[in-house]
Amino acid sequence: MGYRDVYQGWKADPEAFWMQAAEAIDWIKKPTKALDDSNAPIYQWYSDGVMNTCYNALDRHVEAGRGEQAAIIYDSPITGVKATFSYAEMTDRVAILAGALARKGVGKGDRVLIYMPMVPEALEAMLACARLGAVHSVVFGGFAANELAVRIDDATPKAVIAASCGIEPGRVIAYKPLLDEAIELSAHKPEFGVILQREQLAADLGDTDFEWDAFKEGAVPAPCTPVGGADPLYILYTSGTTGQPKGVVRPNGGHAVALQWTMKNIYNVEPGEVFWAASDVGWVVGHSYICYAPLIYGATAIVFEGKPIGTPDAGTFWRVIEEHKVTSFFTAPTAFRAIKRVDPEGEFVKKYDMSSLKALFLAGERADSDTIIWAQDHLGVPVVDHWWQTETGYSIAANPLGLEELPVKLGSPTVPMPGYDVQALADDGHPVKAGEMGAIAIKLPLPPGTLSGLWQAEDRYRSSYLETFPGYYETGDAGMIDEDGYLYIMARTDDVINVAGHRLSTGAMEEVLSSHPDVAECAVIGVADALKGQLPLGFLCLTSGVDRDHSEIVAECANLVREKIGPVAAFKLACVVERLPKTRSGKVLRGTMAAIADGTAWKMPATIDDPVILDEIKVALAAMGFAK
Ligand code: COA
Ligand code: AMP
Repeated sequence: MGYRDVYQGWKADPEAFWMQAAEAIDWIKKPTKALDDSNAPIYQWYSDGVMNTCYNALDRHVEAGRGEQAAIIYDSPITGVKATFSYAEMTDRVAILAGALARKGVGKGDRVLIYMPMVPEALEAMLACARLGAVHSVVFGGFAANELAVRIDDATPKAVIAASCGIEPGRVIAYKPLLDEAIELSAHKPEFGVILQREQLAADLGDTDFEWDAFKEGAVPAPCTPVGGADPLYILYTSGTTGQPKGVVRPNGGHAVALQWTMKNIYNVEPGEVFWAASDVGWVVGHSYICYAPLIYGATAIVFEGKPIGTPDAGTFWRVIEEHKVTSFFTAPTAFRAIKRVDPEGEFVKKYDMSSLKALFLAGERADSDTIIWAQDHLGVPVVDHWWQTETGYSIAANPLGLEELPVKLGSPTVPMPGYDVQALADDGHPVKAGEMGAIAIKLPLPPGTLSGLWQAEDRYRSSYLETFPGYYETGDAGMIDEDGYLYIMARTDDVINVAGHRLSTGAMEEVLSSHPDVAECAVIGVADALKGQLPLGFLCLTSGVDRDHSEIVAECANLVREKIGPVAAFKLACVVERLPKTRSGKVLRGTMAAIADGTAWKMPATIDDPVILDEIKVALAAMGFAK
């Protein structure tokens, strides 16, 4: 069956479609129905089913006689280490870690925070939590102590599992001091920590910390705890409009069903093949496609610790593909832009045999045409841009290679997947005409595997996603749908920007900048960047009477954002201005400033009526090379 038949089949009978898809998962008690709409517009899936995600990801493959197959290949060019872990080995390791956690009282529903770099133990920790029915919350290593503290206070974890350090090119990042500082800052104190000591930098352990191996010593392997289909598997924090991140809650049952479905139908992978998502376990792509989907499906996942360039060169991705016979490769367009910049002619690509590769998948940010064309030309495989969000956990729109390879339209992540009825809406909530811009919204209910809500914040869930367009989920993206049903995702409608495929809140950066004593008022916008897609740019209005060198203040502000949010915010550009452009009601015109920076101000309604301010912003942007 081709895409259109499958999509129409889902639309005609969603319940039957998702009950059928659920057959591919092992249930302890099969669900009697897929959708539970008893609390609409908040929906649950497979709520009377009972299962365990770790069982589906590991044990079932061992029981099916595939224990010797590689579950995980660890390839770390940044440390020079490579290792392979079979399904049988991973099952044993995870069961023992789970047993050790259970021995310390971690059980179903308890939260466990994981703060680890790209090492196999990060997946081991995630799966051990899943095994116990405990809820993990992985925090990306590039976030600073303060961000970690906010997440600790929100998720109130019983335990923290961390590594002593992460490794970035040219420097070792000591994780433990960041963790200690975060726990110092947070009101909630986790009961204990488990620390993986890496040889690059050992951490000082505190009274409530255990060293990884010592912690597991003598533990009894834990069985898989039965959990309800709608019970939470994990919380993953993502940026919203304010500094308080949103705790996206992912339920067990729908997640396993949906991810399993995507592996064949979207990625066209077979069990036993090697699937590589070059992302980080701290992001949703890492949760879904470094850990859960490949393992639930019985494929081999790659845990890659390094960068696309410089570890050691721009050929590292191709070397990994050749060496491990990767069939499906997934990363963010920014990684390709980084490679293209140093290897425009694809010289490094030619050095490797990549005949195993069947397709490249891009997501995390808008894929620009140049990047897609470069990848098509040099890799010689279909290049699939697909659109998704932390909230959905897998792609909303894609080119479903396992069903049918649809014609590519550059700039479009192709078509909605079954489960998603996507519309471009006008402000009044009515769909706009084909080809016109609108707010991209998805008709409720969202399909299985998407968020069941925000952690202990139902009101915020409703107000952030469900209230603007009743009956729809508001994605926060703006775009259009053409006459062939292809989607185009153009921009965010909120204060979220996308830097190197990482989702960041300008509001959170503004909160940090405002805490600088010399800053009276500020605004942060996203400006186009050839490598990272977008970069944050700050405008600072100084407190009256401050008469210091502006470059010093800018440097202090950049440091402050790095310290409070983390290096991943990549906040380096800021300028001092006299005033900020505002509406009559006092709202800062960030959109207008961003349009000036992008050279698209002509598209905006004439919202800045004070020519002096307009000129000042233009001059400031031009001085930094932005206003065109
Ligand atoms: N721990 C600590 N610091 C980290 C980190 C981590 N896990 N990850 C990134 N950082 C730091 C970087 O070292 C950098 O610090 P610097 O300002 O001192 O140079 C800063 O955070 C910004 O990181 P990033 O924006 O990722 O830039 P980069 O120059 O290190 O790498 C890319 C750029 C394009 C190579 C990289 O972002 C990449 O490979 N992205 C594609 C894959 C991906 O992560 N996708 C996410 C969703 S699919
Ligand atoms: P995240 O939650 O970090 O995955 O970021 C989700 C956001 O990234 C989306 O809401 C989009 O704004 C953007 N995004 C992700 N994938 C794409 C894509 N393929 N095309 C355009 N934007 C994308």
